[in-house]
Amino acid sequence: MNKNKQTALITGASRGIGKVIAKKLIQKGIKVIGTSTTNTGVKIINDYLKDNGFGLILDLKNTDSIIKTIKEIYKKKYSIDILINNAGIKKDNLLVKMTHKEWEDVIKINLSSVFYLVKSVIRSMIKKKQGRIITIGSIIANIGNKGQVNYSASKSGLIGFHKSLALEVASKGITVNIISPGLIKTDFIKTLNSTQYQNYVSKIPIKRIGYKDEIAHAVIFLISKKASYITGHTLHINGGMHMI
Ligand SMILES: NC(=O)c1ccc[n+]([C@@H]2O[C@H](COP(=O)([O-])OP(=O)(O)OC[C@H]3O[C@@H](n4cnc5c(N)ncnc54)[C@H](OP(=O)(O)O)[C@@H]3O)[C@@H](O)[C@H]2O)c1
Repeated sequence: MNKNKQTALITGASRGIGKVIAKKLIQKGIKVIGTSTTNTGVKIINDYLKDNGFGLILDLKNTDSIIKTIKEIYKKKYSIDILINNAGIKKDNLLVKMTHKEWEDVIKINLSSVFYLVKSVIRSMIKKKQGRIITIGSIIANIGNKGQVNYSASKSGLIGFHKSLALEVASKGITVNIISPGLIKTDFIKTLNSTQYQNYVSKIPIKRIGYKDEIAHAVIFLISKKASYITGHTLHINGGMHMI
């Protein structure tokens, strides 16, 4: 992999939205370091990246491994010019039944990991006086959802985090934004039964769920020079399901 090209780190690049973002980035000539929690996921990433980057194991539940992994990337003289915090999980339950583990896992993976990832890359971006940080949020941050107090708290926590971070690094050439999807066709929503699915679709003015490409296109825009004046923003992509 050419170490002089712009490089993006994408968490959760084995499938879903992260995989499509990674594919679009390499089409733009950007090198990709993609993560997965499994060897199978890393193999999938390496197979589609070919010589445009590589995959590595990273479990965002493990704070020490986040710090160690980023250190190793820098030690090997790769830069991280673009950070895409994409990986996320849900562990749904009504609050009365929600376990500590369901709460903590979701907060750790969806919110706390972003703190450690950003903290690990930001000094290098400041030194270079350039950087792009994009995090995949969720419509649920704004509208809430029964059974998702953990997921909703994690995703709305990201909004405050990104606004504050955007203020801290705006003068350093670094932009910080959230892309907030509505319902997107990935494994993430395959637990919905057909009644729940129809119920969601009935609330989407465009009358269909979104596609992974529709999120990836927005990532490509936000990392481009055309978006250099956009920071601290949450870009909603939800077919009109929620308008702010
Ligand atoms: N799909 C939707 O409708 C929708 C709507 C709003 C927001 N989002 C957000 O979009 C993002 C991507 O979701 P998706 O729909 O593409 O989901 P997905 O298809 O389920 O993919 C999730 C990705 O996250 C990775 N991941 C899971 N647990 C992880 C952990 N502990 N550490 C590191 N990586 C982990 C997975 O990697 P491995 O399995 O390979 O380890 C996988 O690559 C998430 O942040 C999600 O909250 C999705």
